[in-house]
Formats: sequence, structure tokens, C-alpha cells
Amino acid sequence: MAQALFSPFKIGKLTLAHRIVMAPLTRMRAAQPGNIPQSINVDYYRQRASKGGLIITEGSQISPMAQGMPATPGIHSSAQIEGWKAVVDAVHEKEGIIFLQLWHVGRISHSSMLSGNLPIAPSSIVAPGKAFTATFERMPFETPRALETEEIPAIVEEYALAAKNAKQAGFDGVEIHAANGYLLEQFLHSSSNQRTDQYGGSIENRCRIVLDIAAVVCEVFGADRVGIRLSPYGIANGSSEEDPMTLYDYLIKQLAALNLAYLHLIEPRASGAGQEEVNHQNVPLSSELFRAIWPNTLIAAGNYKPDTASAAVEAKQVDAVAFGRLFIANPDLPKRVEKGAPLNAYNRATFYGGGTEGYTDYPTLEQVK
Ligand code: FNR
Repeated sequence: MAQALFSPFKIGKLTLAHRIVMAPLTRMRAAQPGNIPQSINVDYYRQRASKGGLIITEGSQISPMAQGMPATPGIHSSAQIEGWKAVVDAVHEKEGIIFLQLWHVGRISHSSMLSGNLPIAPSSIVAPGKAFTATFERMPFETPRALETEEIPAIVEEYALAAKNAKQAGFDGVEIHAANGYLLEQFLHSSSNQRTDQYGGSIENRCRIVLDIAAVVCEVFGADRVGIRLSPYGIANGSSEEDPMTLYDYLIKQLAALNLAYLHLIEPRASGAGQEEVNHQNVPLSSELFRAIWPNTLIAAGNYKPDTASAAVEAKQVDAVAFGRLFIANPDLPKRVEKGAPLNAYNRATFYGGGTEGYTDYPTLEQVK
């Protein structure tokens, strides 16, 4: 079953054994204080590693100001690097491949997590909806502080430093999170970016920070070990853009010129899947729209099931498919798909925060028998 998913493909010079990728999934279970990957995180990733399979980690804040939810892991302190090293080693022991997702949330945060500072953003425009506070409460988002022009190169530099830290932890590569309404998408989209300097206004200007970051991260890792995640037509975290086709056509072509190893697209039908069950109707299929302008590996995510993922690979619409919720509930997802075995159902109540329940206690096929 789903035969097309079980053939090798390439990310840069790396050869992957199958096309079932673990999507980046925030789980809010890093050790406190310090947001440090700990032993239950090692167990979780070890369980989900497979020979030649790609894991993309949960979003990991590149700096203290980049954090938007409690207990998400960072990649800016030496303790965090050590913590991640243990995760990487566990995945490598199973001959898996693991990329770290570099994350800055921008305005999708709360001052209680930021030493009392207001969240930062391209413009002083509040996001709709509710933030997580440092103590897991939900409060309306605060109006963020608009970044000064002079501060932006320092943020680019934080990405470079975070990439260096990821390299030191032994990661095979990194993915730049430029999706889902977080800082980089806030710059991309006109609804959250009303700047009048070289980082706002025209499409070229709104894309500038993303392209600057991609360039410095490529310097650290080599472009063949760098991917990027985008969500054209996405509406997560109050995101909206009046002309996505023109914007993403430009951005993706520029990223192609940098020769990034892969482009990871979130299908808009699944926009906001982290918050609620969604299947938005009458929305474009991003992988179909942008396939033609992306020369390297294309990964897509969002409401894929084994059969639809296999069909998309077979049709050459995508090279690989990332699974989020199904990977939460099925530590041995590739094996189950290969065998056509039944899948465990996920429990949304345990997605965020807590301990091993709903995290490392989903059974493998062997454990069910
Ligand atoms: C997510 N998603 C997500 N995306 C991302 O780029 N970085 C992240 O840290 C997270 N965190 C996260 C947590 C949880 C609990 C969920 C459910 C989702 C989005 C995820 O990677 C994926 O795009 C969606 O879940 C849609 O794919 P599935 O679940 O339909 O396979």
C-alpha cells in the first residue's frame, strides 16, 4: 500500500529512504527553567525516528524574544544545545535524519514570557485572538512594538547564531519557519507589515528579511542543508495577504536562486490545524500552484492521509509529504503505512504541555499486538 511513498529521494546531497516526513510539531514539554530539551523529548523523537526518515523538530526559538508559548525549546543557550544533542544522537542511532526548525514568533507572544517586554513585530498591529501566557493561561494578544530599522540586522544575526548552535548540536540541517503568521510571515504579509523603510511596502521589501536570513543560514550550513516552510494562502494566527500569488511567486523564485535544499508548503486547507480541526474549502492547493517554479525538493503538509500522500507523490506534485497529527499519535507511522496497518487516533487535549501522557505513550504496532 502507498507504494510511491517508499522510494528514496534527495534533500540536497542527503538521500532519504522514504517520503513520510515528520512535520514540525510544538508540544511545549521542554524542561524548566531554561526551555531545555530533556529526556522525555529524547524518547519522543527516538520513537518517531526511522532509518532514512526525515524528522523536522518542533519550532525552536532563536532567542529569548522569539518565544511565544511556554515550555517551547530554544536553540540559543549552551544548555539547550546540549539538550538537543541528546535528541540528535538518539535519532542518528536509528539512522534517521533530523532538521531543526528555526522559529521567531514576533507578535504571537505575551510579555509574561518576555521578561515584561512587549512582543516585537514589523508594525505595531495587534493579532486577533488569544496568546498563551507564561503560566499557560489564555489572554488577548498585546499590541506589539514595531522594530526599529536598525534592529533588523541583529535579528538576522540571531538566525545565523541559532543555525550555528544547531550545527554544534549535530543537526543534519535546519528549516526556516516563515509560515503560520509568525515573525517572518508578519513581514511578508501586507496586513501585518505597514513599514515605510526597506523592510516594508513593495513585495521586494517585505521579502527582504526572509531572504537575508536564508542567505546567512545558508552560509552556516550550506544551502543543501537548509529548507524553508511557507504557508501561502494561510490564515493561521491572524495572517492575511491581499495578493499571495504575486508575493509567493517572487519569494519562491528568489529562494530558488539561493538553491535551498527544499521548500516545505503548508496546504491552506489545513491552516490553523495546530489550534483546531480544520478542512478549509475552496482554497488553492499550494503544492500544485508553486511546483513549477521550485526546482529542488518539494515537501507538502496539511490534511494528507497515506493514500492521498501516495497519489501526490505518484503524480509528481510533491517529492515527500509531512505528517503532523498522524505522527503525534503513531510513533511508527512509516512502518504502519508501509504495512497498511490501522493508525492510532490522536488526542488533541494532550497536544500542548504536560508530561508523557499523549506524548510518548502512543503504542507502536508491536505494542498493540
Ligand atoms: C503544528 N504545526 C506546526 N507547524 C510548524 O511549522 N511549526 C510548529 O512548531 C508547529 N506546531 C504544531 C503543533 C501541533 C500540535 C499541530 C497539530 C500542528 C503545523 C503542522 O506542522 C502541520 O502543518 C499541520 O498539523 C497540518 O498537517 P497534518 O496534521 O494535517 O498532517
